[in-house]
Amino acid sequence: MNENESEQIAGILESHGAVPCDNAENGNIIIINTCAVREKPVEKLFSLLGRMKTIKQKNNAFIGVAGCIAQIYKEKIMQKNKAVDFIIGPDNLDKIPDIINSLSEADSGIIQTSRNRDWIEIHQISRQNQISGYVTIMKGCNNFCTYCIVPFAKGREKYRPLKHIKKEIRKLADKGFKEIQLLGQNVNSYKDPDSAKDFPFLLKEISQIKGIEWIRFITSHPKDLSEKTIHTMAETDKICRQLHLPIQSGSDHILKRMGRGYTQKEYLEKIELLKKSMPDISLSTDIIVGFPGETEDDFHDTVDILKKVEYTNIFSFRYSQRPFTAALKYKDNIPLETKKQRLITLQEAQRNIQLKLNKSFTGKKIKVLCMGGSKKGYNSYVGRNEAYQPINFKSDKNMTGKFVTVEITACGPYSLIGKLHTTAK
Ligand code: 5AD
Ligand code: SF4
Repeated sequence: MNENESEQIAGILESHGAVPCDNAENGNIIIINTCAVREKPVEKLFSLLGRMKTIKQKNNAFIGVAGCIAQIYKEKIMQKNKAVDFIIGPDNLDKIPDIINSLSEADSGIIQTSRNRDWIEIHQISRQNQISGYVTIMKGCNNFCTYCIVPFAKGREKYRPLKHIKKEIRKLADKGFKEIQLLGQNVNSYKDPDSAKDFPFLLKEISQIKGIEWIRFITSHPKDLSEKTIHTMAETDKICRQLHLPIQSGSDHILKRMGRGYTQKEYLEKIELLKKSMPDISLSTDIIVGFPGETEDDFHDTVDILKKVEYTNIFSFRYSQRPFTAALKYKDNIPLETKKQRLITLQEAQRNIQLKLNKSFTGKKIKVLCMGGSKKGYNSYVGRNEAYQPINFKSDKNMTGKFVTVEITACGPYSLIGKLHTTAK
């Protein structure tokens, strides 16, 4: 979502005459887009801002901070960093040009973090990828999981009108995009503000758009992923057999403390239905280790889940306390060393699962959407399969943006290597 927001910020600037430069060192408008979901990026921002002072002096640059850290830590950023000229919250991106125009006359920094209940359309998006396009369908979250800062940083759920979503996707299809990735903190609760139509309806509507061949969406909350959505996925060829379904913990005791609204059993029932409806589905998840009160037994329940589900990929994190969140009432009682160790154990278990899974692909022919040249050599390309795994292959012809068939010849736990078979499309 942040990548897409950065693309929107770049689009807004470019539509007002700014031109991109290849290095922040040379910029005279520098906007740092941020994520506040964990503690580490906040620390990184403050050290980056320290380095910005020299660039500001050298280029007479305007420096802004956008995103969730901007929304939450606005005063702290302004007080601690003389280099920062403006702070822009996630609901205010459209105000960037006016802010920049008024900065030369302003005596002090500008903070714009008001909450906007309405959806603001951004008409120009400066996309990094010309094959797979991000399309934001909703923002914010009403779930208030006890560890999570998102509802405070992004605000409550807001849904983008379906007509605007369809228009953007049609535009992408006309430009030759082959895949779209629908984005939102909690896509399953999507409701078109004009017609109240739900997420499965949206999926069906956009699957009619010619030219778009693959559709993905992220993120689904296990309690909100409905049977109707699962059936729609199964019925609709264009929807990739791939789903990111964050479990966070495999222990009922911890899930309850996290306020996730499901038990391990309920989560696994959804996984079973997904696998029954789409036997070739590939799954990924998010996991937090070291949540307050997590015992060795709780942790082992989480490791067990990896073995039961056999995810293609996981994203795992050490718990860190976040401002405003309900989990602050618990003591952050798991020592850092234990958190680190649990993360290593978890990632090691997953590494073995992935290696086994990837080995089972050897010799198989897989449909791959080529995303472009890779850093591995002049005729090396990288693409993604339906499972969203990176696949490396060589080709004499430029295959960027094409669907190709790749025969898998080798693999590691995190990638697949193959040889080009035939052009599928
Ligand atoms: N500590 C660690 N990880 C967190 N996440 C969210 N909040 C925290 C936190 N306080 C993780 C969750 C979420 C992902 C985006 O970040 O796993 O799904
Ligand atoms: Fe955060 Fe929970 Fe909302 Fe996800 S569902 S954004 S973890 S509050």
